[in-house]
Amino acid sequence: MYLLTRLIVVGRDTSAHAMTWTMYLLLQNPSHLPTILDELQAIPPSTNNLELSHHLRYLDACISETLRIYPPVPYGTYDNVSHEAIPLPDGGIIQPGDRIIYSAWVSGRSPLVWGPGNLEGFRPERWLNNKEKPSAYEWPVFNAGPRSCLGQQMARNQVLIAMRELLSRYEFSMGWDGSERFPLRGLTLPMEGGLPVRVSRR
Ligand code: HEM
Repeated sequence: MYLLTRLIVVGRDTSAHAMTWTMYLLLQNPSHLPTILDELQAIPPSTNNLELSHHLRYLDACISETLRIYPPVPYGTYDNVSHEAIPLPDGGIIQPGDRIIYSAWVSGRSPLVWGPGNLEGFRPERWLNNKEKPSAYEWPVFNAGPRSCLGQQMARNQVLIAMRELLSRYEFSMGWDGSERFPLRGLTLPMEGGLPVRVSRR
């Protein structure tokens, strides 16, 4: 039962949160929508879903930028990582029996990862430039190393396919007053109260 619950949480809620926050950030930053819509119109008809990311680079970058700001798994823990003390580069020491917490929420907001003065706002462009992409250890949104997310490629495709379908068929506008929305604290990162939107057919 525990495993089933865990699989539902890691495999369903995470992708759903990624979609909710992507929609939220696009509605808050509508200047990015025309580029996405141009991309959607230019997808060659024979494209299959696995090739979609090659044709939707800007939408894919918007999803990555959303994951930076609102990581669906905001933090994780490791218990009893070592029987011996491990010195860290910054002078800290991990003692035997210590619990380690890693946080994609924190590293998504760290100037050590993204550079000074480079964190303000929603900036999908950073993902179009290979030099700016951090490693999984610097930004562990899917964790890093042996416990990395097994579904990460599937999750990215899933979110891309769903956003493509939604944005190409429907027009969305804010169904709330436009104020900042906040996540609930927990294992994953749902939006408090969900995202109220108005929807009409294109
Ligand atoms: C945007 C969506 C997703 C995000 C951000 C995400 C993130 C993560 C993270 C951070 C972990 C490591 C948790 C830990 O042990 O500390 C993880 C583990 C895992 N994820 Fe995902 N995940 C996503 C979607 C999915 C999907 C769609 C699937 C399956 C279809 C999946 C399958 C798994 C599995 C099986 C593990 C456990 C790996 C292991 O412990 O060996 N994930 N995920």
